[in-house]
Order: sequence, then structure tokens, then C-alpha cells
Amino acid sequence: MEPDFWIERWQRGETGFHQEAGNDLLAKHWPALGLAPGSTVFVPLCGKSVDMVRLAAQGHSVIGAELSPLAVQDFFSENALHAEIRKVGSFTVHTAGAISIWCGDFFALPFEATQDAAAVYDRAALIALPADMQVKYADKLRSLLPAGTPILLVSLTYPHGAIEGPPFATSRDQVDALFSATHDITILEERDGLETSPVLKQRGVSQLDEVVYVLRPRADAGMHD
Ligand SMILES: C[S@@+](CC[C@H](N)C(=O)[O-])C[C@H]1O[C@@H](n2cnc3c(N)ncnc32)[C@H](O)[C@@H]1O
Repeated sequence: MEPDFWIERWQRGETGFHQEAGNDLLAKHWPALGLAPGSTVFVPLCGKSVDMVRLAAQGHSVIGAELSPLAVQDFFSENALHAEIRKVGSFTVHTAGAISIWCGDFFALPFEATQDAAAVYDRAALIALPADMQVKYADKLRSLLPAGTPILLVSLTYPHGAIEGPPFATSRDQVDALFSATHDITILEERDGLETSPVLKQRGVSQLDEVVYVLRPRADAGMHD
């Protein structure tokens, strides 16, 4: 999946994945991570998710990574935040208060962007990518995270072939294949996601499961340090 695919989706306003009110599973399961107040959360492939505002409101610093400049502009303007902008290599880093978004390609992100991360919030990031890119995503994430950094992952599955992704149905077996070498994987919740995903229902998905995982790196895991 080429970067232009996403850039053009944002330009055409095809952002059915965006949740105006944020994701209810975040509020429900975030405490399971047991993070220290004030710790930093990394939100890969963040879009213009208002969950970043909610995390900041809880006292976290937030680092987002997003390809589309339009998504980043929309995020700050729609939340009435004035961002300072600086260049770091190929990235444009937009910062307002406790929220910074690194605008550019996640796969090129330097460790300096995420070195303070104490947790990751992945909603619709892993599942935005086809299987071959999911492998690269998991490897890149490992390389970006300080040792011990847990991941809250909101994933989904639907019957094979029901639609063409994104989103890409991502089963427990796939999550295991991607992360079990380095992480202990726990399912926190599994629920019917069809009623809260009208766009996917319209596209022809007749069965949809939303699954929330916590992925905790094992002490011997090959993370950044
Ligand atoms: C399905 S959306 C999810 C956005 C957000 N997590 C949310 O919950 O609304 C996936 C996002 O990833 C971004 N994206 C895709 N590939 C990317 C890449 N290589 N680097 C950074 N962002 C990327 C897209 O522009 C899009 O905003």
C-alpha cells in the first residue's frame, strides 16, 4: 500500500475510520496498562484521532505519527490547538502543549521521536496495513520502543474475503505470529463491532468482531535497548 493511497483518501475526505467521539474501548481498558501519571503515549498512524486529546487530558504526553499533512492540520484546527512546527529530517513535527505529531512515514521514524514512550495506543493502525506490511510494522514498532513498553491494541476480524481492506481482518493467530516472539498477549475484550461500524456494514460486512489486546514485552524481548 503506497503512501499516496492514504494521502489521496484524506484529500477525498474518505475517512470513515475516524470516530468523532473517540473510541470507547480506550477509556474502558486504558487503566489496565497501569501507567504512571504524566507518562508518554505513542500513537502510530494516528490520523486526527481525538483519542490523543483524551490521553493528553488524562495528563499524558502524546506522540503521534501520521503520513497525511491534511490529517495533521485538521487535528490541530478541529481541536482549536495552535501548533508550533519544526523540521526533523524528512518529518514535520507539530507540537501544541503535550501533543506532538510527527508528520511523515512511520517506517522512517527515528528513535528520538519515541524514546520517551511508556505505552502505545494502536487503534486502526495495524489493521490499516496488509499482511506483508503488518510484519514490517511490528518490526518497526519493536525498534522504536524502549524496553518494557506495553501496547494497547484495538483490532478487528471479519469473515475472510467479505471486503477488500483496509481495514484488514487481523485474527488472534495473526497477532500471535506478529508479536508472540517478543510479547505476552492477553485479550481484554472481544465484542460484536457491527453496530458501531456502520461504514463497514454498508460495505457488506455481516459479522465483525472487535478485539482489545494488551501486548506486554517479555524481559528478554528484543526491543530498542
Ligand atoms: C485507518 S486510519 C486510522 C487513524 C487513527 N488511528 C484513528 O483511529 O482514527 C490509518 C491512518 O494511518 C495513516 N498512515 C498510513 N500509512 C502510514 C505511514 N506509513 N506512516 C504514517 N501514517 C500512515 C493514514 O494516513 C491514516 O490516517
